[in-house]
Amino acid sequence: TKRIGILTAGGDAPGLNAAIRGFGKAAIGEHGWKLIGFRDGMRGLAENRYTELDGAALSGILTTGGTMLGTSRDKVHRMMVDGEARDMIPTIVENVEKDKLDALVCLGGGGTAKNARRLMDAGINVLHLPKTIDNDIVRTDTSFGFSTALEIATEAVDRLHSTAHSHHRIILTEIMGHRAGWLALGAGVAGGADVILLPEVPYSVEAIAEKIQRRRKQGSSFSVVAVAEGARSVKDAEELAHAQALVKDASSPELKAMAKKGVKALEASHRANTFTLAEQLEAATGLEARVTILGYVQRGGTPNAADRLLGTRLGVAGANAIADGKYGVMVADRGHDTALVPLKDVAGKVKYVPRDHEWIKAARAVGTALGD
Ligand code: F6P
Repeated sequence: TKRIGILTAGGDAPGLNAAIRGFGKAAIGEHGWKLIGFRDGMRGLAENRYTELDGAALSGILTTGGTMLGTSRDKVHRMMVDGEARDMIPTIVENVEKDKLDALVCLGGGGTAKNARRLMDAGINVLHLPKTIDNDIVRTDTSFGFSTALEIATEAVDRLHSTAHSHHRIILTEIMGHRAGWLALGAGVAGGADVILLPEVPYSVEAIAEKIQRRRKQGSSFSVVAVAEGARSVKDAEELAHAQALVKDASSPELKAMAKKGVKALEASHRANTFTLAEQLEAATGLEARVTILGYVQRGGTPNAADRLLGTRLGVAGANAIADGKYGVMVADRGHDTALVPLKDVAGKVKYVPRDHEWIKAARAVGTALGD
């Protein structure tokens, strides 16, 4: 019988427990394997903290939020231990041998795919299941967590209309999504936001103000603006593009490392400064502006039906992949089917919203401004 390790890493997301349960029930019930659950993501793996999960442990978790195993954002090759960054890959390889694991299943997003790839290169049989509320993992239609977060953000956009309308205000709501705009775009379209700002479509304050004034002339003295946390102005986007070009053209590894630091700093400082934008819009329109940051509410609570179903499907497909001896892959969602995608094609890549995506076209067609 096989011994399979499982862990969840990166930000928590609704559907993680459904996926643990889906994989675990298939692994134990269908295939007769032993399941070892590591605590707190890659950190628990490095520290060899685990418990064996049996059928009873997997019972009653389908509908729960968060992750029963705990999580962390640690990097396997640079984990903070006693105040210094250490390469924990050799320790992890030792633990996997000691624990006699045949395979390790990693549930996570982009960062986890990179960690999983490093472990794969170190000789561990890994399998990745795509989790993130950001929907930014390449080569899969979607990831568990996204659908529930989209519903929560949509409800927020809905509810903000009441106050915006009653008080004749501009309400900006900052929506998660990391570097990609999927969540803000989806919630903005579904919630009928008047303006949607995305990292993929740099904005100008003038264009947004113009849209708000146009609405006012037509009798709507309020506007709801959905702001992706990664959205940036045209000027900031140009600066970032310039910094990214420096990375690409760097003539030595040292220069490249320096240029990369520059990009990171810009990415951090330009993350939608929604409060500044609110002040700018207030000044440009004369309307009162308010900000609501949705934050972790978007990741919390019970998964919706779509995420329970997706987590279960991908988990079961993951167990079948291991039974077939398929490793070094991510289990991708493809319509009503699943596919196995090599981890090397996933790790380090980001799925942005294409500028000609149907959701963008639909937003424009119903009169929503994108600030460009
Ligand atoms: O990846 C999910 C996500 O919620 C992003 O949307 C957001 O940028 C990030 O995680 C927040 O991370 P943390 O949990 O470390 O604050």
